[in-house]
Amino acid sequence: MKIEYYHASEYGNGAKVAEEFKRIMATKGIVVNVHHVREVKPREIPAADLYLFSSPGRMGKPIGGMRRFLKKINLPSESRYAILVTEMNPQPDKKTGRMPTEEELGRCQLVIPKMNEILQAKGFKKVADGKIYVTGIKGPLEEGWQGKVEEFVSVILSSS
Ligand SMILES: Cc1cc2nc3c(=O)[nH]c(=O)nc-3n(C[C@H](O)[C@H](O)[C@H](O)COP(=O)(O)O)c2cc1C
Repeated sequence: MKIEYYHASEYGNGAKVAEEFKRIMATKGIVVNVHHVREVKPREIPAADLYLFSSPGRMGKPIGGMRRFLKKINLPSESRYAILVTEMNPQPDKKTGRMPTEEELGRCQLVIPKMNEILQAKGFKKVADGKIYVTGIKGPLEEGWQGKVEEFVSVILSSS
């Protein structure tokens, strides 16, 4: 299995996640080629068994560079993809101290849904999506993030 991994990391957290994903996959004999979206042309993506897309959040959406990249790719329909985003961890309300509910979060955090929307409109097939939190606006990654990447790898491998 060959995986092409495209990320749009701005502060390095998503890039770390990509390297960890690649490291774990290598222990299973699977090759992962990691690229920043800035370094590649969206219309020149090589053939792969799975495409991994990873974006940081920006105002509830994927960062602009990733949105533009996804809109331009022209892979065969039915191409298999997975999404692994980095998002800010949910914060308690400043006045009440109450944590937002899943429903409230879902209304303002549309990073994964927006990416799925663009990819599914092209006929691509989702294998998995997931998120790793950062604990500050520019990082660092949440404690135990490597374990979450490992779980994500397991989900992908069990659906292959
Ligand atoms: C201007 C700005 C807006 C952001 N908006 C969001 C947001 O709406 N949702 C979210 O989860 N994270 C948001 N973040 C935090 C990013 O998720 C975080 O910077 C990113 O995950 C870090 O990954 P990177 O180091 O790979 O860039 C924002 C960060 C910045 C700088």
